[in-house]
Amino acid sequence: MIIEHIQQAIFDTVESMHPGLLAKEAIVVAVPKHKGIGDLASPVAMQLAKLLKTSPLEVAEKIAVELRGHEDIAQVHVAAPGFVNITVTNECLCRSLEALDPSTPVTYGGGKQIILEYAALNVAKHAHIGHIRNIAIGESLHRMFEYLGYNVHTIDHVGDWGTQFGKVLYAVEHWGDKAVIEKDPVGELNDLYVLFHQKSHEDDTLDDQARAISKALEDGDAHYKKLWQWVVDINVGAIDKMLQGMGVHFDDHTGESFYLDKVEDSFAAMEKSGILTHNADGSVAVNFEELGVNLPSCLVQRSDGATLYLTRDIATVEYRLTTYQPERIIYVVGDDQSLHFKQLFAIAKLMKMGEGVEIKHVNYGLVLLPEGKMSTRKGTVVTAEEVLAEAIERAREVAESHGTEHTEKFVQELAYGALNYTMLSGQTHANLTFRWETALSFEGNSAPYLQYVHARTCSLLAKAELVSGKCAGEVSEHERILVIHLSRFEETLIQVCAEYRPNMLCQYLYDLASLFNSLYNTTRILDAGEQDKERLLLITSMVQQTMTKGLELLNIAAPEKM
Ligand code: ARG
Repeated sequence: MIIEHIQQAIFDTVESMHPGLLAKEAIVVAVPKHKGIGDLASPVAMQLAKLLKTSPLEVAEKIAVELRGHEDIAQVHVAAPGFVNITVTNECLCRSLEALDPSTPVTYGGGKQIILEYAALNVAKHAHIGHIRNIAIGESLHRMFEYLGYNVHTIDHVGDWGTQFGKVLYAVEHWGDKAVIEKDPVGELNDLYVLFHQKSHEDDTLDDQARAISKALEDGDAHYKKLWQWVVDINVGAIDKMLQGMGVHFDDHTGESFYLDKVEDSFAAMEKSGILTHNADGSVAVNFEELGVNLPSCLVQRSDGATLYLTRDIATVEYRLTTYQPERIIYVVGDDQSLHFKQLFAIAKLMKMGEGVEIKHVNYGLVLLPEGKMSTRKGTVVTAEEVLAEAIERAREVAESHGTEHTEKFVQELAYGALNYTMLSGQTHANLTFRWETALSFEGNSAPYLQYVHARTCSLLAKAELVSGKCAGEVSEHERILVIHLSRFEETLIQVCAEYRPNMLCQYLYDLASLFNSLYNTTRILDAGEQDKERLLLITSMVQQTMTKGLELLNIAAPEKM
């Protein structure tokens, strides 16, 4: 808010000097890294001098003269090679602080429609630790876009179709026990699928039988359709239960199979747009190079006429565009599918689908485990369920060793908070090494630290009689930085959503917590004089509200006591 205000003031000045030369958005205003040179710094004079081919210092001086008369600006200094350093008035800081309302969503997005796809687990396969990262990223984007005033439709694009179902159904039919499967659908179906692979080494007729089932299923065989539907339903039900336990809710679970009957039309549209190459063996491909696109070619239909993952995704894009008329379609999917999405988006572009719509693959790196540090029940893959269970166990130990109150609710808030924060706080594109010790540490850049600082604001506010909501007296040097930081919450979220990087919100909250902590350690807030106390409590209350909301947007609970 303060930054935007100053940006406007600089823009007005620049406009009066050189109309139409710089757009408002192009004017950079930042918080300087060094203390004592002002609240904000702008390289605007350097930006202008480049265009005007004059000396940046001269331009800076001219801008400074104009800005000095502004009612919200207390001081302006020019620094080499042409920075304009600004100190805002106490009045401006106080007005901004009093106007903050972080708990209330904003209208920035104007209700525009967004389709957001994440989770998208495959049936009969365990979710693993990487999926926890996927879900953390997707859910935080979901919450942030909604906070910014977008209309978000979330889809769990279930992996409920493909040749593996021939194997799954064969195994269920021959070795499965429905009552047992119903008790632990994902685990049992996963085991049956693994069993199929083991047995197919001994019996080489199994693969053919599975293929026949797969074909029957594609052709709409009633018996296998029914069995398949049963498998999908109990599997999706179990996954949804796990997701809900993690605080994650989807608007729909329409999986890949939903688009099967739409593939024919979209195939015809591809044909019509002239991008298909028919191969001698009957398969159909898109040869990108021939179409002037630098990508490896890909199949859109197999030689036996069966549909492919990519083809179903093209039908999916088409369906989402026409059904929801979104402004953006976002896919949160791991890095390993980058080529798939490049090809998908290239086809959409060649077909002129959804022009003006932002279609984005939000990719993220792998989650690695320091070897031997994570116990596994069986095999080498650490399942999501195992990670969640271990998080709870370890959080309980940590809570006990800190002597903090530990109801089961609190333990879960600590556990899931630590998991989500670790999944989100690293660079989204980079791989991350997951360590319990760091995730559950009360110190450093971690969820427990943020939760702890938040709880501290709560206990302080509980001890104070009343928060008047008035910013009285003189804002101190240290508070100034905090107040400006508080005013940047919305701006930060806008940036996170533009760049799809939840780690920027983590950094924002960590900085906020650290700024408050050092204020707390150097100031006796409750013992301050009347005016100072009034103002300091307002700051504390805004920190508390911003932390609660910020953590909620990361799907991390903010307990009041720790
Ligand atoms: N189910 C897929 C997998 O786990 C991810 C789906 C990604 N979304 C998509 N529209 N292709 O590999």
